[in-house]
Amino acid sequence: MVTKTLFGKTVNGKSVYKYTISSSELEVSILSFGATIQSIIVKNPTPVDVVLGYDDVLSYQTQDGYLGATCGRNSNRIENAKFTLNGITYNLAVNDGKKHNLHGGNVGFSHRVWLEEEVGENFIILSLLSKHLEEGFPANLNVKVKFSLDGENLSIEYFGLSDGDTVFNPTNHSYFNLDGHDTHTGHSNLLNIYSNYLTETNEELIPTGVLVNVNGTPLDFTSFKAISKDINSSYYLIENMHGYDGNYCLSSDGKLSLCARAYSQKTGVLMSVYTDRPGVQLYTGYFLTERKGKNGATYVPNSSFCLETQVYPNAVNNPNFEGAFIKANEPFYSKTVYGFAVTKDIL
Ligand code: GAL
Repeated sequence: MVTKTLFGKTVNGKSVYKYTISSSELEVSILSFGATIQSIIVKNPTPVDVVLGYDDVLSYQTQDGYLGATCGRNSNRIENAKFTLNGITYNLAVNDGKKHNLHGGNVGFSHRVWLEEEVGENFIILSLLSKHLEEGFPANLNVKVKFSLDGENLSIEYFGLSDGDTVFNPTNHSYFNLDGHDTHTGHSNLLNIYSNYLTETNEELIPTGVLVNVNGTPLDFTSFKAISKDINSSYYLIENMHGYDGNYCLSSDGKLSLCARAYSQKTGVLMSVYTDRPGVQLYTGYFLTERKGKNGATYVPNSSFCLETQVYPNAVNNPNFEGAFIKANEPFYSKTVYGFAVTKDIL
């Protein structure tokens, strides 16, 4: 079932709608601002909201954290905010420090009002047109994102079609805390990532091109461990990343595959993430300064985590990183699923 309510208006007077999709296991709210996941409530046995969010449009418009948003055209960073495609160099909006492009630029997909394309029994489809040279990216790009609920699974499907070769690398930027969004204890959640390699980054979080074997290092999540366990290690990459803020390499080969699981020993919520993308960014919220969240919550840095499915960061500037570009008139499709079970037994 889907219900639609007016969530509020942007400072420019545009209406923003909230779509609440329910199954017997979950209740998920999506906003037309930023195609944003505003809440994910795991209903049983005691309802718990496992994502951070706000309860007004202005907070979404002015936020720097991308809470729950769909990021695009390109998620993560593009070094020096430029890339070359078909012999032409494109200069992008600089919005990460004084140099780089982050999550699509100053007004990326995360900060736009999306159109309602279709509402079904258990899904909604939102769309937008990203115009040629918007934030510096070439070609007109039509984007659709479908959010659907099937029992305990929330699927996010991305569709894109452009009239010229361009970049398209969307993600969802939800911050999870499976203890409950308002508890500050998300780093006690256990995490397991199905990956042996991380794209090494420099201090500006730009990949060096080297893939680091994580086995036996503080980056290793090949079996469940608390996010907090090694987060204060003096390992050089943990220091560069201020905790975890890096891309784990996946071997999904373009097929929807399990890439990560997270578990709360407090609520019993087990989240499983499936994707067809080649990478997933684990980000543990270093830049998320203290702020007011929904329902009177306060959010503090380093207390939640994101698992953003994507192509490797800065792939547009690294010929060894795949999937950076899409071709004119060739439909793009990608899918990520976040599943939420409640269980006492994760082994
Ligand atoms: C993440 C990124 C972080 C930070 C954050 C937004 O995706 O990895 O470095 O930029 O978005 O604050």
